[in-house]
Formats: sequence, C-alpha cells, structure tokens
Amino acid sequence: MSEAELALLGGEPVRTQPFHRWPHWDAREARALHEVLEEGSWGGYPAPNRRARAFADAFAAYTGAAHGVCCANGSVALELAIQAARIEPGSEIIVPAYTFTATASSVVHCGCVPVFVDVDPDTYCMDAAAAAERVTGRTRAIIPVHLACNMADMDAICELAARHELVVIEDCAHAHGARWRGRGAGSIGHAGTFSFQTSKLMTAGEGGAVLTSEREIADRLQSLANCGRKEPGHDRFEGAMLGHNYRLTEWQAAILSVQLERLEAQTRQRERALQRLESGLRELPMFRTTERDPRNDTRSAYQVIVRYDEAGAGVPRERILEALRAENIPCEGDFYDPVYACELFPMDPLTNPLAAAPAGAGHDVESVRCPVTERAARSEAIWLPHPLFLGPDGDVDDVVGAFHKLAARLTALR
Ligand SMILES: Cc1ncc(COP(=O)(O)O)c(C=O)c1O
Repeated sequence: MSEAELALLGGEPVRTQPFHRWPHWDAREARALHEVLEEGSWGGYPAPNRRARAFADAFAAYTGAAHGVCCANGSVALELAIQAARIEPGSEIIVPAYTFTATASSVVHCGCVPVFVDVDPDTYCMDAAAAAERVTGRTRAIIPVHLACNMADMDAICELAARHELVVIEDCAHAHGARWRGRGAGSIGHAGTFSFQTSKLMTAGEGGAVLTSEREIADRLQSLANCGRKEPGHDRFEGAMLGHNYRLTEWQAAILSVQLERLEAQTRQRERALQRLESGLRELPMFRTTERDPRNDTRSAYQVIVRYDEAGAGVPRERILEALRAENIPCEGDFYDPVYACELFPMDPLTNPLAAAPAGAGHDVESVRCPVTERAARSEAIWLPHPLFLGPDGDVDDVVGAFHKLAARLTALR
C-alpha cells in the first residue's frame, strides 16, 4: 500500500466505495412521519407540540438533565439559553475562538460582548486557564464548546464559574451522547444547547434543543421559543417574555425521537472506529489525533480531527487535503476560522450592535490573538466527518491507509 502512487499523481485511489450514507434513516422514520401526516397536528400551534415535548423529555432524561425545550436550531438555542439565564445586555460572555460563528454571534444577538479565548492544543476545546485570565467585573457567562470528539474541561470551567458566579452554557452541537465523568454533555452547566441540522449526530434536517436542570430557566425557555406564551406547566414565572416563534415542528420531533433510539449504539460504534483510527495513525508522527481526557468517559465523534505537522512535514496542509480527497477520503481544513478573524466580526454596523459599541466596552476583535486556534485553523487541523466512522472496520482501514500512503510519499507532494 505505502509503495503505491498517490491518486493525486495518477495512481489508484485507496477508497473506491462510498462511505456510510448520512443522514441515516430507515422504516421507523418513514412510519413516524406518516403518523404525523395522519394526526394532522404538524407544527406546534395550536398547542400541544406533543411530539416535541415527548422528544425533549426523552432527550433530557437520556442526557441527565431535568428539563428540555425544543427550538428551531442550535443558533437560536444559544440565544434562548442566554436570555433564559437572564444575562443582561452589555455583559461579557467568554467563548472559545475555535468554534462555529453561532457560539459568538448568539452572544452579539443578545446584546452581549463575546470575549474570545484560545483552545487547548491537545483537545481543541476551551482552555480553562485562558478563560480564567479573561474574567472581568463585566463577565456574566461562559460558553464552552465540546469539539473534536472531546469535551471542554468541565471541572475547571465549573469551578471558575462558581468562583465568579458565572452562568455556564455548554454548546453541545458536536456532543450528542458524550459524557464527562458519567454526566451527559449539556447537563453539567446551567444549560446545554444542541443542534439537529443535517450533518449532526442526530438530525431532523434542522432543529435545536436546550437542556437545563433549573425549572425557572426551562419555563422561560418554553415561553421565549413560543411567542411569549406560557403553556400549562410552564406558567410559574412572573410577567411575560418577549418571545418568538422558534418552535420545532412535529415532523422534526417524530424523526428525532427515532434518531435518539439509535444514538447510543452509534456512539459506541464511532468510539470503536475512533480507537481503530488512533491506533492506525500511532506510527505517523506528522498525523496526530487529538488527546483524550480520561474524564471524558464517553466520546461523541462528530468531526474527528487529525493534527497535521505542516512545519515538520514540509508540505502545505492544502496539498495534503487535496491528496486525501484524491484518495476519496472526504476531509476539510478550514472548517472553522478563528471566529474573531472571520468576516462577521466586525460586521455591518447596521446589523451588528458591537460595531457601534463605545471604546472600552470589552469588544476587542481587532486585537485578540489566539495562537493555538490560528495554527489549528490555518495549518494543523484536518477534519474528518463522522459518516467515515459508522461503517465496517474496512472503512476506517481505508482512512488509515490513505494517511499512511501520504506519509510514505510526502516528498512527491513537496
Ligand atoms: C459549535 C456549534 N454551535 C452552534 C451551531 C449552530 O447550530 P445550527 O446550525 O443548528 O443553528 C453549530 C452548527 O453547526 C455548531 O457547530
């Protein structure tokens, strides 16, 4: 295998079959959708959003949170969590620099200021020590993102939050089913947010949820996502909330309930595949997987990241990605930019309240630098999507085989 010519240079590709199909569905999703069709209650109005409620309860119970509220997507879930936790506009909220823009743009949409911190070089999740350095008198919340098959150090983050009375919102868009010392991702902080868009580990095409064990947060979430209404059972808080229609439809809830039934078995399968990948790459120093923290006792493998040593190997990452794709291994390098450097920050003064923020308001996207994030985004990270890790062992062996082939032929890529 390692002697073979690279597909990029005219050789045969390592992979000749398609990988596992995603989204994964079978007759159970088809049956559930047909039931909704027959029932005639397709959305969330008029109430009740019966299937959405049943799904939220089941997902919360699976994760270990007392309450769950469904909503339109993972971006909205973050906004709802910030609002339901009563974070005042103008507050600073600490977010990792290496994440999807929604982690930070949700903060801006709530009138707050995202304060970017670097990620840990081994896990690519928020560096808790860096977060501690950015706490000021205006900090009110912290949003760790569980990324790259890992979870942020929830012990250190919760300890930091307790010391400064910060709200912890876990962004679990990559972490359905993950566990930290036995506790489900999304059930450890004050709230945990999830996305169910098409690429995610559970999907209804679009969709989101917020989990919490605090009754008042759950009541406000329900109202905020449902045009300010107080449905029976969620009517305890005083006053009214300026909500929006962010309801999940019954179609989506029906599919998600089936997807939840598969989550545990798929999580186990991805873990086995991940271990096979890790042992297969062990001899290749220029291709290292991220490091597992043993406290993250159940990993969810949404996007598997291989860290490429561009300087050591002497071949630009883009060339490596091109060669992997020629071997028919789907992969990406610039999956995420450092959020502070992406074109949304700073953005149009008519849509981004931060653009008009007074100097000294904590808005520092011009000056912030996060070297680990910048290295990951620009030269180090190779992102491999999870369907590569849902098929038989031979699928992982092909991924490993492609990396070995490249490692043996690096000089041909220079
Ligand atoms: C880390 C992270 N946060 C939030 C989101 C937002 O989720 P959605 O696309 O459902 O709005 C995503 C989605 O890609 C994500 O990856």
